[in-house]
Amino acid sequence: MHIRKATAADAPIAFAIRREAILAQCAGCYAEQDLEIWTSGAMSASFARCVADAFHVAEIDDRLVGTGMIDLASGKIDAIFVRPDWMGHGVGRALMNHLERLARDAGLTSIHLDATLNAAPFYRRLGFAVEATSTYRSTLGVTLACISMTKPLAPP
Ligand SMILES: CC(C)(COP(=O)(O)OP(=O)(O)OC[C@H]1O[C@@H](n2cnc3c(N)ncnc32)[C@H](O)[C@@H]1OP(=O)(O)O)[C@@H](O)C(=O)NCCC(=O)NCCS
Repeated sequence: MHIRKATAADAPIAFAIRREAILAQCAGCYAEQDLEIWTSGAMSASFARCVADAFHVAEIDDRLVGTGMIDLASGKIDAIFVRPDWMGHGVGRALMNHLERLARDAGLTSIHLDATLNAAPFYRRLGFAVEATSTYRSTLGVTLACISMTKPLAPP
């Protein structure tokens, strides 16, 4: 597996992985209608810009299998999505390790995220602790229950 900074050319595939991952794994925790709204529509220009600016992608055999991003100013992790046929093979953990390393190298002492309910056990396994319940408001008008989680980082 190879993890690298994304480019603008990765945006359409990153957008497709996001949709596939949400529909494959969030279904047990959220109403089907909410997930349909959350994943509906075409890729926006702001999503494409965000991919080019801040995403990192995991590749296996030159195929994109996962995405993730970190805001190194705030330590916020976002967009952790793994292609459904590669879930459960360590891609999510590898992406998180990579982003954690970037955070440590940038001098951050902790990282945080808003976890979907289905993904909270994954983040707990990686050393994150629950801070509080929260609500994610998508630009398409859907609100989803989430869990705010943080992880302290040991110095490099
Ligand atoms: C959640 C997600 C990112 C995990 O990625 P993944 O590549 O499948 O996870 P990994 O294979 O790296 O798993 C790492 C560890 O977490 C555990 N784990 C992974 N997903 C889990 C889940 N949903 N519940 C409990 N444990 C989980 C694995 O068993 C593994 O444990 P181990 O190291 O002891 O064997 C991925 O399944 C996904 O894209 N889900 C749908 C989208 C989503 O909700 N993203 C999060 C948005 S906040």
